[in-house]
Amino acid sequence: MNSVDVAHLSTGTGLPSASLLVARRVVTCDPKRATNEGLATIEDGAVLVRDGVIAEVGSRAELEARHADVVRIDLGELVTPGLVDAHTHAAYMGSRHDEYALRMSGAGYEAIAKAGGGIVSSMRAVRAASREEIAETLAARLARMASLGVTTVEVKSGYGLDLESEQKQLRAIAEVSTRSLSPRLVPTYLALHALPPEAAGDRAGFAARVASREVDIVASEHLAKFVDAYIDRNAFSVDEARATLERAKTLGLGVRVHVGQFADVGGAELAAELGAASADHLEHVSSSGAEHLARAGVRAVLLPVASFTLGQSPPPVSVLRAAGVSLVVASDANPGTAPTDSLPLAIAFAVRTYGLTVAEAILGATREAALSLGFHDVGFLAPGARADLVSWSLSHEAALVQPHGVSRARLVVRDGVVIATA
Ligand code: NIG
Ligand code: FE
Repeated sequence: MNSVDVAHLSTGTGLPSASLLVARRVVTCDPKRATNEGLATIEDGAVLVRDGVIAEVGSRAELEARHADVVRIDLGELVTPGLVDAHTHAAYMGSRHDEYALRMSGAGYEAIAKAGGGIVSSMRAVRAASREEIAETLAARLARMASLGVTTVEVKSGYGLDLESEQKQLRAIAEVSTRSLSPRLVPTYLALHALPPEAAGDRAGFAARVASREVDIVASEHLAKFVDAYIDRNAFSVDEARATLERAKTLGLGVRVHVGQFADVGGAELAAELGAASADHLEHVSSSGAEHLARAGVRAVLLPVASFTLGQSPPPVSVLRAAGVSLVVASDANPGTAPTDSLPLAIAFAVRTYGLTVAEAILGATREAALSLGFHDVGFLAPGARADLVSWSLSHEAALVQPHGVSRARLVVRDGVVIATA
């Protein structure tokens, strides 16, 4: 049997068209196996990859015996599916370190926004940038995410706050998504994020225009798979957001919503009513809201880095869990509340500050995250799934949830191509 040394696999290399990847421990997250709290781990496991797609997963001894002619690659101690970051604002420009410092000395996030900072300050940076500049900044951020083990990233617009600038952000995302070394991207039009200064305080008028015109244009240009709205006190109300999200559905787009970050204003119920793919944040959600989400199959996207930098209490995770809501963990990468590129950091905080189990956190950043983005062939290792996987310099998946602060990913593969190495 031929073998390739992992040290020879550099970024940009495609795996041989048939490769047998072996490792001491393979965390498959395969829903059909359902062992080890859903992590479905195989000791001395192997993954057969053919042309970027997984053909077989099983025990190393068995697969080696049956595929003696296939190139073997020893990926070392621990392999998991590629991580999936289901909530990011990664196409942002500029830095809000000044506000961060103010907040750390006691200023409130909502008060800073009311004074013309916050999201509107990032709007100014995005409006001042060219599409090419946004694309390059995004690509650099995504390269850092890939080096942390992330192979799929949802990226929202939402810092343009007028049609032209939102299109510019979405076109930058589309451009970067065609690059061979980029993680797989899922674009979301964050249609209602904040009120731009030119709206002169007319929130209802702004929301009505987005619903009647802008969503259609974004949909007709195929710039987004999802539409998002920020529903909260000091953001948009359920009534203001409803028409935009309904229009998105009518046009065949999915819905994801920021709800309950600061107050429960009924966003979870709206997400359930609309059959949203996800309701994100949920620091403030009632048990009835949680039950609505569960019944409608809306996934909860938890964003522990945001609540950490805001100094907030965790969402009612046990209420969500008891109601049967599927949990997703995401970075929320943005310049205001979650200035990080790191999904592994969010995983660590989800366990430490939100009380997720190791299995919940890992499934929430792989299979459940992928399902919230509409993928049925991403986020787990099983025949037919895309060959997105990570080899870690760690001996056990429980070590993955520790706050390493540096990348422990050794080799990161998307669709059978190496997109990052240690
Ligand atoms: O997910 N809360 C709304 N949106 C972002 C923050 C955006 C910003 O502050 O730039 C969030 O936390
Ligand atoms: Fe967000």
